[in-house]
Amino acid sequence: TTITFIEASGRKVEATVTGETTLMELAVAHDVEGVLADCGGACVCATCHCQLDASYSDTLGGPGPIEAMMLNELLNVSEQSRLACQIDLNAELDGLVVTIPPVEY
Ligand code: FES
Repeated sequence: TTITFIEASGRKVEATVTGETTLMELAVAHDVEGVLADCGGACVCATCHCQLDASYSDTLGGPGPIEAMMLNELLNVSEQSRLACQIDLNAELDGLVVTIPPVEY
C-alpha cells in the first residue's frame, strides 16, 4: 500500500505501508512536514489534520464524534478533513493522496 503526502509547500512524499499503522504514524515516520501529532494519536490535539482524496470517502467513512469536535476547532477544514491518527491504513487505501494544510497552530 502506497500513500502520497503533499505538504503545504507542495513537496510530495511517497510512503509505503508495512504492517499495522495509522496515517499519522506513517506521516511522522516519513517526516512529513505539518504533521506534528503532539498528543501521540489520542485525538485531542488536532495537529495531525489532513485532507484526504475525495474518491476514498466511501472506504474511509466519516470522522467519529470526538474527531469531528476537534475538526470544528480548526480554520482550514473542508469536507475532506480528517485527523490522521484516526485513520487505520489498509490495502484498500492504496494510492491515497493526503494533502497537509498549512499549519495553523
Ligand atoms: Fe493528536 Fe491526532 S495526533 S489528534
